[in-house]
Amino acid sequence: MLIRYKKSMEKIAMGLLSFMPEEKDVKKLQHTMKAYEENENWHLYLWRENDDVLGAIGVEINQIDATVTVQHISVNPSHRELGIGHKMINEIREIYEENYQIIANDLTESFLNKCE
Ligand SMILES: CC(C)(COP(=O)(O)OP(=O)(O)OC[C@H]1O[C@@H](n2cnc3c(N)ncnc32)[C@H](O)[C@@H]1OP(=O)(O)O)[C@@H](O)C(=O)NCCC(=O)NCCS
Repeated sequence: MLIRYKKSMEKIAMGLLSFMPEEKDVKKLQHTMKAYEENENWHLYLWRENDDVLGAIGVEINQIDATVTVQHISVNPSHRELGIGHKMINEIREIYEENYQIIANDLTESFLNKCE
């Protein structure tokens, strides 16, 4: 299930987001984490299964054009190809789809297309 990020989960969240190709640089990653903590339109979720945190998905809410952009999606390499990525996208749809159109950015587009 998806759970909303809390500061106490910072290390595991950073570890997961660091698998995104453009988040390899620690400074960039710290900047991204700060944005998820401080920007009320940036929502970060973690995928938890049996007390293990195995994935992360981060979105940006745009109230003006009623979109939710999936900005980050990442799964622990040992747990890939098991459907977790698809399940995270489905839960994001359940949370936001009633009021927002779910869209990708350049970094998440190929996987979101795969989930269509
Ligand atoms: C992308 C990612 C989150 C998928 O997670 P996952 O739990 O393994 O995904 P699922 O098990 O739900 O789906 C697996 C399917 O997605 C495909 N897939 C994996 N990464 C993909 C990508 N970047 N673009 C398109 N399809 C992708 C797999 O080939 C597989 O296809 P198949 O079912 O036809 O064999 C994971 O590979 C990851 O963390 N990658 C590193 C971070 C990253 O690059 N994120 C941006 C992705 S655009």
